[in-house]
Order: sequence, then structure tokens, then C-alpha cells
Amino acid sequence: MTAPSTEQVLKAALEASHAWWDDMGVDIPLVPTVAPSAAKQSRQTRKVPQAKSAPAPNQINTSEQLAKAAEQAKAAPTLEALKTIIEGFDAGILSDHARNVVFARGNPSANIMVIGEAPGRQEDEAAKPFIGPAGQLLDKMFAAIDLSEDDLYITNVCNWRPPGNRNPTEDELNMCAPFIKRHMELIAPKLVVIVGNVSLFALTGKTGIMKTRGNWQELDIGGEKTPAMPLYHPAFLLRRPELKKDAWRDLLAIKARLNDI
Ligand code: URA
Repeated sequence: MTAPSTEQVLKAALEASHAWWDDMGVDIPLVPTVAPSAAKQSRQTRKVPQAKSAPAPNQINTSEQLAKAAEQAKAAPTLEALKTIIEGFDAGILSDHARNVVFARGNPSANIMVIGEAPGRQEDEAAKPFIGPAGQLLDKMFAAIDLSEDDLYITNVCNWRPPGNRNPTEDELNMCAPFIKRHMELIAPKLVVIVGNVSLFALTGKTGIMKTRGNWQELDIGGEKTPAMPLYHPAFLLRRPELKKDAWRDLLAIKARLNDI
């Protein structure tokens, strides 16, 4: 058997690295193969390829879209109607890049509404929130306090997967705000679990999950003061397993509070 060439080894390493990032839900462009003749050209003589009339990204005016989102979301009488409205909504780059609107999973009559950040790659493909590695950990965390999908209604503050798995911007969160507001009103949960920093900011205006987790917040949902517990995002716990003990404390606090409602 002949030993692989340096080029083959590098190509295999590049493909393995690409597969790893892809598993993590991060889109990275494949590095184009450089034709040997092009590689030989000097920097001075090489022409910078010009983009062929690349389509302009769908840059929307988020404050106009916010007004539209508010008007349409308010008018949604049911969950099904809200889902249809979001599916037909032009959210600019968000709706252009996402494969699916990721609406919710779980039991719409549950007392507990779990609200995460935005879908990842697997969620976008399956049109279901929290089904990737982070979602599997989230399910295990709730199972540890005897709560299954039937006891929970799970969604996100943003219903589209942002391109490249980035966080939604503040403008995008503002644009999505009327949808999650109406979503919460239609579910009318007794208790909300706020999963991660982005959701904390979107739902309370606060930043800093490290200092806020474990401290009960209050959300106004359709005029009802609703207790809400910020929790570390399970994707963060996968990277920082030593913090699981804090999350366990917060889960026990949620479990204890459920006895009062
Ligand atoms: N992370 C989130 O916040 N939500 C999902 O649906 C998946 C990953």
C-alpha cells in the first residue's frame, strides 16, 4: 500500500474538520480547490474575481417589520393561526436562510413553557425546537425532575435559524418579540423557563445569565404576573459541565414552585 500524499492527508483533515463543525451546527463554506495554474500566478497578476451580480441580501427595515409583526401577531386567535402567520412572514435574512419555521413541540396545555434562543441546524431541518445535542440534554434535565415532553411546551424567542448559527441580532429579536409575546399569551403558562442569555435578554431586557440564573423573574403574560426561571443553556452546559450543579439547583427550585401552582 502506498503512503498517502501530503495533499490527500490535508484534504482528509479538512473534510474531518468540516464534518465536525457541521455536527456542531456551524455552516462554514467549503474551501474551493485552487487549480495549480492559478496557484502559480503571482499576487500582482492574479485578478480578484468579481461577484457576478450577487443578489442583494433581503435587507428589511426591522422597525417597519416590527410594526407588521405586532399587527399580525395580535390578530392571531389560535396557535395554528400564529404559526401560519409566522410561516408567511418576511423576516429578511432570517426567513431567507432558514429551511423551516421552527414553532414548538410539547403539550400546548402544559403549565410550563420553556423558551430557548433560536433553532440550530437539526431543529431547522426537522422544524422542531431543541432536538439536537443541546435539546437532548434539556430533555434529560427535565426528566431529572420528573417532567416529560407532555408536561412542557417548548419554543424559542426566534423561530428561524440565523445564518451560520449566529445569535439573532437585537433588531431581529425586536422584530420577533410580538410573535413570542402572542405565543405566550395563547399558551398562558403558569411558569416559564427562560433558557440561555439571548432569551433572557429578549424576554426581560436583562443580560448576564451567570448572575441571573436561579433568580425568579416575573413576566407579564396577558396581564398575568407569571414566574420565570432563567436557566443555563444546555449548549453552554455541554461546554461547561462543572456548572451542571447550579442548573440542578435551579431545576429543584422549578420543581418546588410547581407545588404552589
Ligand atoms: N438552542 C436553542 O436555543 N433552541 C433550539 O431550538 C435549539 C438549540
